[in-house]
Amino acid sequence: MTDLVVRRLLVDMEKPIARHWCAGDPFRTALMNALSMSFPVGEQFFIDSVRSGFEALSPELQQKHRADMQGFVGQEATHRRLHALYNEHLDKLGLVNSWGPRARERMKMLDGVHPRHWLAATAANEHFTAILADFMLENPDLLGSEDPRLKTLWLWHAAEEAEHKCVAFDLYQALEGDYAWRVKWMRRITMVFLGDTIRQTISNLRHDGTLWQWRTWKSAASYLFGKRGLVRLTFKPWRQYFRRDFHPSQLESAAATNWLQANSEQYRAVGA
Ligand SMILES: [Fe+2]
Ligand SMILES: [Fe+2]
Repeated sequence: MTDLVVRRLLVDMEKPIARHWCAGDPFRTALMNALSMSFPVGEQFFIDSVRSGFEALSPELQQKHRADMQGFVGQEATHRRLHALYNEHLDKLGLVNSWGPRARERMKMLDGVHPRHWLAATAANEHFTAILADFMLENPDLLGSEDPRLKTLWLWHAAEEAEHKCVAFDLYQALEGDYAWRVKWMRRITMVFLGDTIRQTISNLRHDGTLWQWRTWKSAASYLFGKRGLVRLTFKPWRQYFRRDFHPSQLESAAATNWLQANSEQYRAVGA
């Protein structure tokens, strides 16, 4: 893997977020906002997993994985910082983040468990973020053009997710994590991730007063199951994870490289 660059994104997160910033569409806005709400707690968990997995490696293996671990931690720390600022605006809009606190409670169950399990859970989540990232980068118009700043934030985050998608998986393998536990964790994370996404999206729509509008459900059906539907396009890559010979590097990520090259004026490399 090439070196992971930590980038400072040049966006103004002070400016308030509009109620329906995503293409004026309540459903798409509620879904993206729900995902954003999960990041400060979720990405801290990924950082902790990768750090503690790294600590459990032999000195020789630490040397091999050190740069990837540091790049991963730097990128995720930047993501969670910007999404925390994003989420402050959502609080002001009257939305209530119940995903973060619920996830924090759930994570307590992993206290004292070997970091291999933390990494298996993180690798499964990172597979979700990588396939969502590819979907977003291949369909950037679905983010609308009402808020170019948030569009940039999401595509930058997506591009970096694609860049570091192998790190947790490789550490899991370096710690001799096996196939059976890897897929067991993927089944668990799939239930948890989909359940939390649906619950938080519905909660956001309820607080927005748009849950029972016809246009909300029409948009949900087309965004999830239409010709360019999220579920339709991500199902196959999601399933690839269950192959014994799966490795995240097998997933397409040309769109991420292209976006980073074409938008280099939107960020500065940290330490460059
Ligand atoms: Fe991230
Ligand atoms: Fe990530």
